[in-house]
Amino acid sequence: MRSMMCMDEVLSLRSRYVISAIHEDDAIVKSMEKSGKTVVKLNLGDPAVYFQTPQYIVNAFTKALQQGMTHYSDPVGLSRLRHAVSERQRRLYRLDSDIDDIIITQGVSEAIMLTNSILVNPRDSGVLFRPYYPQYLPSLEFCMGKGILGDYDEESGWSADIEGLRKRLRAGKRMKYLIVNNPNNPTGSVMERSLLREIAELAKDYGLVLISDEIYDEIVYNGAHFTSISEVAKGIPYIILNGASKVFSATGFRIGFAIVPGSDSVSLSIKSRLRAMSTLRLSASTPAEYAVAEGILNEHEHEISVSRMTTEIARRINNASRLINESEYMHTVLPRGAFYLFPKLDMKRLKFENDREFEQKLLKEEAVHITRGSGFGIADHIRIVALAPEYVMASAIDRINRFCRKHSKR
Ligand SMILES: Cc1ncc(COP(=O)(O)O)c(C=O)c1O
Repeated sequence: MRSMMCMDEVLSLRSRYVISAIHEDDAIVKSMEKSGKTVVKLNLGDPAVYFQTPQYIVNAFTKALQQGMTHYSDPVGLSRLRHAVSERQRRLYRLDSDIDDIIITQGVSEAIMLTNSILVNPRDSGVLFRPYYPQYLPSLEFCMGKGILGDYDEESGWSADIEGLRKRLRAGKRMKYLIVNNPNNPTGSVMERSLLREIAELAKDYGLVLISDEIYDEIVYNGAHFTSISEVAKGIPYIILNGASKVFSATGFRIGFAIVPGSDSVSLSIKSRLRAMSTLRLSASTPAEYAVAEGILNEHEHEISVSRMTTEIARRINNASRLINESEYMHTVLPRGAFYLFPKLDMKRLKFENDREFEQKLLKEEAVHITRGSGFGIADHIRIVALAPEYVMASAIDRINRFCRKHSKR
């Protein structure tokens, strides 16, 4: 039997990079719950916990099961669902796509991993803005790639600093792609069309494949208008990632879409490699695909449920933002999309080494589970999922304030 000493010979180097800030303290939460404590969980962006998956979608899932749709699906996805996704993108963003441009994945999470696996060789780089969605970097590093980081600027409402990023991009760094997430997790910002145009130009100037994670596309409020990358990216290869988890409140279905609409040689190769990769995991969940197809095709029911959910999310998030901005210790930019708050902590007034210590002590002392900003690439912030009803959010923010007072330098 091998000793612990030679574990490096047993395990892959790349698996060292796998860490999720969002799940880091799950074991502590489980043991707190085991000892009878109730933990307020504001760490995981799961709308289905608070907004039931619409009944017409649940019915379609049940019907698919009853009709025996429990076999493998096509590796690239059920053609009915790919048709529905193609029609959806046409209706919402006037995108002309074919079902062969679409691959159904087990959530956007799998689409991110598949995309990295077909684009990245060891020592290649991917370009991303911080704060970033925590899965982007480990998925890139798992393929032995490196991240080149640009910044979203908090002072300007988390707008992307394009000029700053241009200075960091140098030829010869084997840069493969630029990934953006709009509407944004964790900041809640929604990109203006002009900014997206600049991002598309930057990708073109450096020959980068542009990846746009649009998983929150229909969850916008406070006067924001969402623009899909397909409306501005002309003549460059790009990949749109989207799925059922957020807009259809169906996280547990595990359905994502990767859309590669281009007919240039790079886009054609990406499609062909994604198709090949999809065969390695056989298929997504067949009944879930039927259900999501119905979710998209029944436009009337979808419109009712998504607008009801978004209105309620806006109310909850605006209320939580107000409470946070009344605090002496935190300040947040008002979100315009998705369902997260990303307040800055006034660390000068608090007796913590860093946001990791803040996160862990808050969990242990107040039973409130948030995620540290450094998990998203930006220190001295925390990410709060603002989906819970107002009384839950209000009580959690009260506890955070009490905790800050207790650990204040004054
Ligand atoms: C920006 C972003 N992309 C992807 C995902 C993963 O989504 P899925 O459930 O489709 O894997 C999330 C989930 O929180 C997300 O916030």
